[in-house]
Order: sequence, then C-alpha cells, then structure tokens
Amino acid sequence: TAAEKGGYEHFMLKEIHEQPKAVRDTIMPRIRDNDIVIDELNMSEEDIKNLKKIYIVACGSAYHTGMTGKYVIEDLARIPVEVDLASEFRYRNPILEKGTLTVIISQSGETADSLAALREAKKQGIKVLGIVNVVGSSIAREADNVMYTWAGPEIAVATTKAYSTQIAALYLLALRFAKVRGTITEERFDSLLQDLCKLPEQIQTILDKNVTQIQYIASKFVAVKDSFFIGRGVDYATALEGSLKLKEISYIHSEAYPAGELKHGPIALIEEDTLVTALLTQESLYKKTISNIVEVQSRGAFVLAVTNEGNEEAEKVSNMTIYIPTTDSHFTTSLAVIPLQLLSYYVSVGKGLDLDKPRNLAKSVTVE
Ligand code: G6P
Repeated sequence: TAAEKGGYEHFMLKEIHEQPKAVRDTIMPRIRDNDIVIDELNMSEEDIKNLKKIYIVACGSAYHTGMTGKYVIEDLARIPVEVDLASEFRYRNPILEKGTLTVIISQSGETADSLAALREAKKQGIKVLGIVNVVGSSIAREADNVMYTWAGPEIAVATTKAYSTQIAALYLLALRFAKVRGTITEERFDSLLQDLCKLPEQIQTILDKNVTQIQYIASKFVAVKDSFFIGRGVDYATALEGSLKLKEISYIHSEAYPAGELKHGPIALIEEDTLVTALLTQESLYKKTISNIVEVQSRGAFVLAVTNEGNEEAEKVSNMTIYIPTTDSHFTTSLAVIPLQLLSYYVSVGKGLDLDKPRNLAKSVTVE
C-alpha cells in the first residue's frame, strides 16, 4: 500500500533512500572507542592471525558484495579470498582446509543454494560465518556465527539497502582482520575507520544532489538495447552489481566486464550508441580505464563515467559524468553503486515497468 511505501512511489526507491540509515545501523554498533568490535565473530586474535583462507559463498547481488570483499580483504588484511557462487560451490567438492573461514552472505537467509553451501562447509568441519539480514532465518540459525546486517525488511525484489549493508559488514571484517594481523599501521587503521564512518552521510549527499542529473541520463537510456559496465579492481565488482540491477528491472541486456578484458571479446559488440558505463574510482587505474573508454568511444559507444570528484580527465573522454564524493579507494563501491541503482530505477520508471516485482524473478529463491 501507499502507506507502506512511506510516500515513495515504489519500495525500491524507498529502500534506496533508506541506505544511509541502514549502513549506519550496520557499522556504528560495531565501533567502540575508535576500534572495531565484532563480538559475534567469536574469533580470538590468535584465530584471526591463523586464518589461511576465506571462502565467500553467495548468490546474486550477495555474490557481488563478496567480489568487493575479496579486493578489500586481500589488499588490507593479506588473506587469500576465494569468492564462489553457492550453486557451484555445493556441487564442486570444494577444497576446504583447516584455517579456512567460510562466509555465507544472504539477505533472506533462505536461499536454497546458499543454505546447501553452508551445510557442505559444516560437513567438512569448516567454521561458517553468516552475514544475514533476516533475523532467525535458516542460514542465521545454522551458521556457527552470525553477523547481522541491520537493513530492516527489504521488499523490492532488486536489492539495494541489503546489498549496501553487506558491503559495510565486509569492510568491518577487513579492517578488523587487518588490524589484528598487523598488515596496516595504526594510523592507516584510524584514517580508514574515519572514512568508513563517513559513508552514510556521503551516500546521503549523493541522494540529495545527483537525482535530477540521473533522471535526465535515464531518460536518454529507455530505448537502449545493449549495455556494458566496465571497471578495474574494485570497480569491476561494482560494475557487476550495476549491470545486474539494470538488467533485472529494466530488461536491457547488460554485461559487466573487467575493463582490461574488453579487447578479448566484448569490443566486437560495440556499435553506434551502445551504452557503456565506465567506473573509475581507483586513482592508480584511471589511465588504464580511460584508454578503454577511448577505444569504445571511437567505435560509437555512448559513455557514462562514474568517477571521483576532481577526475576531469574522465569527463573529457565521456559523454556524461557522474561524480561521487571522496573516500578511501577501498570503500568506493558503497558510493559508486548508488547512482547505478538510481539509474536502473529511473530507466525502469521511464519504461513503465513493474519494477518492484520484475518478471520471472523472486525475492528469495528457496528452491533450486
Ligand atoms: C534473488 C534476489 C537477489 C538476491 C539473490 C540472493 O535472486 O532477487 O536480489 O541477491 O536472490 O538472495 P539472498 O537472500 O540469499 O541474498
């Protein structure tokens, strides 16, 4: 009903706007005296130092948060991270050695494949941490330990706020592990923690400032047939989510590619007015991705760049540019994904689709 939507036209838009609060509610209870305290992790400092490997297993958007988690945890805490789709993991006889932590990420806590993956890990005697939104759900109950994401109920089939809180939970883990393992200095930890705490208000800034621009961009995309999202490093993980959102609710064919892989296939599909959304939030990789933008531009693509404030080089080679506020390079997914959610939302509105309940999709997939 209209009341449930809190004055918004759709649940998805309401949930997009709830993200500053959801992310704050996930982060803040775990910060005490300028430190990160994750009681529910139930791991001693010794356990954390002895971690040999992390396996992140999930489906859909939750899998994409795992991809972001991999870049961030590996770089900060220097623990090898493997990310796997639950539907693959469960049938692959995965190699789970002592010293491995399995992390199952799920909004609903009921996804059949993710639950089966959890059981597989437990069967092999490997400790399972659930990152779950729904309290008391099957995955929450069966995991050895649960870190709840405090996003509140999510109704729209296309996830937004749950996704954002899963990312926040992974940042908390990455920072905690990095600190205990001594892979970052105290000063670095403090500055990362400060940037982490600023994310909710920066998400709010994007919601306050960028909507009109994104509505305008979306109005140009309703007739698009094919779309690509490209990025390098953590931007590739964000690209995966941006692309899935667009295809889920606007029914535009869309693929995400690591920008460096364009030349190995997808560039053959670039034609006049193909939409390419390029993510450039990693300063050390700007030049590389800009050269990919030039390559698709010269073949007629329409390029939308999403980049950090101040990166005018990207604007010069793109048709349109959306700027996100400045944060540490490890945390940019949290900000860059917001305009991408809004973009797919407004494209879907422009096409008049039933975007809270896209065809053929379910909020929670409890059968195989
Ligand atoms: C469905 C939903 C997605 C979600 C995926 C995994 O496909 O439409 O939004 O990412 O399931 O769901 P889970 O509840 O396990 O996060």
